[in-house]
Amino acid sequence: MSTTVPGRFAGRVVVVTGAGSGIGRAVASRIVQEGGRVVGADLSEERLRTVAEELGDAFTYVAGSVTEQEVVDRVIEAAGPDLWGLVNNAGIMDDFLSAGEVDDATWERVFAVNVTSMMRLIRAALPLMLAAGAGSIVNTASEAGLRGSAAGVAYTASKHAVVGLTKSTAVFYRSKGIRCNAVAPGAVATNIQTRMDTASFTEVVAPLLGAFALATATAEQLAASITWLLSDDSANVNGAILASDGGWSAI
Ligand SMILES: NC(=O)c1ccc[n+]([C@@H]2O[C@H](COP(=O)([O-])OP(=O)(O)OC[C@H]3O[C@@H](n4cnc5c(N)ncnc54)[C@H](O)[C@@H]3O)[C@@H](O)[C@H]2O)c1
Repeated sequence: MSTTVPGRFAGRVVVVTGAGSGIGRAVASRIVQEGGRVVGADLSEERLRTVAEELGDAFTYVAGSVTEQEVVDRVIEAAGPDLWGLVNNAGIMDDFLSAGEVDDATWERVFAVNVTSMMRLIRAALPLMLAAGAGSIVNTASEAGLRGSAAGVAYTASKHAVVGLTKSTAVFYRSKGIRCNAVAPGAVATNIQTRMDTASFTEVVAPLLGAFALATATAEQLAASITWLLSDDSANVNGAILASDGGWSAI
């Protein structure tokens, strides 16, 4: 169990997507514990309400799909002109479908949630961050953003795109007081859902998954990595893809 850093986000407003569950919920909780105000976004209003009951007034929320520009606009409006941080975390899996199996609907849904929503939130947050001359963005990538054996083709390609989105944003805004980094989690115990019964998974992926991939981390461990990247503690870190995977990516 990591120790919170009192006051680390005092006076700071942070948008967290996917805040109703898993990693996003743990991130929202930690930011509030460390003095920040969080605007959470999630598909599930019920989950958001539960988080709000737990975290109190420092957590407000917008329910809806971050794939909708209208929802993105409402999230940024709820954050207001003091928006300082953005944790682009909402994401979905792809049932481990290979390039020969994937259907257009799966590909498009995975890219809409995992990539396009992140770009739109960054695009909407930037004017406020530029006006303030300060901002910190953390995108949730994945082990699947580093290798080809951690998911199906749509999820793997989408998380590689998150890596590119992160590096490009870091470069373009590096002299404006805005940092952009990503975390690459290995397996984490959350509510994320995926089929793991396809022939591709059984024949190709399963034999490649070693002990590290199967050792699941907690959402709180990921929140510790993400809030470090988000905070001033990582002030000299920009455009980095931080593996938080117990060492899986070192193999
Ligand atoms: N759990 C893992 O093993 C793992 C590993 C690597 C990366 N990740 C990444 O971590 C991130 C968080 O996932 P998690 O494991 O905490 O999953 P989770 O399912 O527990 O939480 C994700 C939340 O995002 C919300 N969400 C999904 N689509 C949305 C949309 N269109 N608009 C708004 N909200 C939406 C869901 O309702 C859910 O509450 C994702 O980007 C995922 O790809 C997870």
